[in-house]
Amino acid sequence: TFVVGENCIKCKHTDCVEVCPVDCFYEGPNFLVINPDECIDCALCEPECPVSAIFSEDELPEDQAVFLELNAELSQVWPNITEIKDAPADAADWDGVPGKLQHLER
Ligand code: SF4
Ligand code: F3S
Repeated sequence: TFVVGENCIKCKHTDCVEVCPVDCFYEGPNFLVINPDECIDCALCEPECPVSAIFSEDELPEDQAVFLELNAELSQVWPNITEIKDAPADAADWDGVPGKLQHLER
């Protein structure tokens, strides 16, 4: 599966959802997740993210291992998203900021 990692938090550009052939992205208040049971590993979404927040499970950085479980868990409770929308106005300010997990809203 592919995994949405920490740098999506508060950036949430949503370019990723447009290319997913199986529509397996789910949207929270300031973060998106992939449903690992629905993802077909096509890899189309990874290069679409302007802040490089998407990883193959095999390439997920060790310090983001928790995001594997977060994607699985939150994709069960958040609504599906299939159309691109505007990113938050301050998205650029948050690109690459460390420790964003503490800002994850559920
Ligand atoms: Fe969707 Fe493909 Fe990305 Fe999986 S790898 S979330 S199927 S675009
Ligand atoms: Fe997040 Fe990147 Fe998609 S910021 S919403 S993973 S395009």
